[in-house]
Amino acid sequence: MAGEKKEGRGGLKVWLNGRMVGYREASVPILTHSLQYGSGIFEGIRAYGTKGGAAIFRLEDHMRRFLNTAKIHQMELGYGMEELKNAAIEAVKANGLESCYIRPFAFYDDDEIGLATGGKKVSVAIAAVPFGAYFGKGRNEGIRCKTSSWRRISSDLLPVEAKSSGNYINSIMANREAHSAGFDEAILLSHNGYIAEGPGENIFLAENGTLFTPARGSDILMGITRDTLIRLARDNGIAVVEEQLHREMLYSCDEAFFSGTAAELTPIVEVDGIKVGGGKVGDMTKRLAAAYSETVAGNNKTFAHWLTIVK
Ligand SMILES: Cc1ncc(COP(=O)(O)O)c(C=O)c1O
Repeated sequence: MAGEKKEGRGGLKVWLNGRMVGYREASVPILTHSLQYGSGIFEGIRAYGTKGGAAIFRLEDHMRRFLNTAKIHQMELGYGMEELKNAAIEAVKANGLESCYIRPFAFYDDDEIGLATGGKKVSVAIAAVPFGAYFGKGRNEGIRCKTSSWRRISSDLLPVEAKSSGNYINSIMANREAHSAGFDEAILLSHNGYIAEGPGENIFLAENGTLFTPARGSDILMGITRDTLIRLARDNGIAVVEEQLHREMLYSCDEAFFSGTAAELTPIVEVDGIKVGGGKVGDMTKRLAAAYSETVAGNNKTFAHWLTIVK
């Protein structure tokens, strides 16, 4: 990921199946099922430095999605909500981190050849790493996007609401295509041509003071940041509409931005060579970005319950 600091990785401690181990010890044989077939599942969570110390943002919501992803894929994790939450806290604490990215990962820890998952050992790991801005320092000025020629996977092909490793091949294809064409990121359309999402982000468009975002059923991951921004917008008196959105709205809207745990709120200033609004970051985007930063930093009393302080 763009915001990652890679040096010193070997010194990290990783929570693996109930105990903290060295980063190199948390490794797998080359023939491991989930490495070969993409059968792992994961989460992406951020912690932020706050006045009260490191605070994990919406930890329970992320772990609920992790458990639901496991359920959809009929994967027995062997750990429940409280154990997973405590493990994430331990991973942050053991590495002495404040602002960081937390990556829960569950996988078939078995190197027998063959697709069947029945009876295979499942391992669960949680890593925490230092992490900055996903789109780099310049992202506050807005990024340039390309509508992908690859459609977003639809739920009749793969469970799009589950966060499984295999789903990300679709994201990687779109991201690679956008980068090859000189853009910062892709925007994927759903199978029927409506706006879906970015490879690792949900998308919002503003028009005439109203905020629009593709609805559940638009082949999107139900992003936790998406939910955060919908609530913050409504809390700030901004009307939010969740519905199917035509592609052309990407070109005619006043403002656009991505949302995601990694991407946070990233303004979009150009799509397919067409400037969004005036090609500058709009006022609603700035307002919501500020509200988001304040909330994750623990300065919004209404939503203080979203923070889990790491003690
Ligand atoms: C495909 C996809 N859509 C949307 C999101 C945003 O989800 P969240 O806000 O929960 O991180 C992500 C990131 O997890 C993603 O990978």
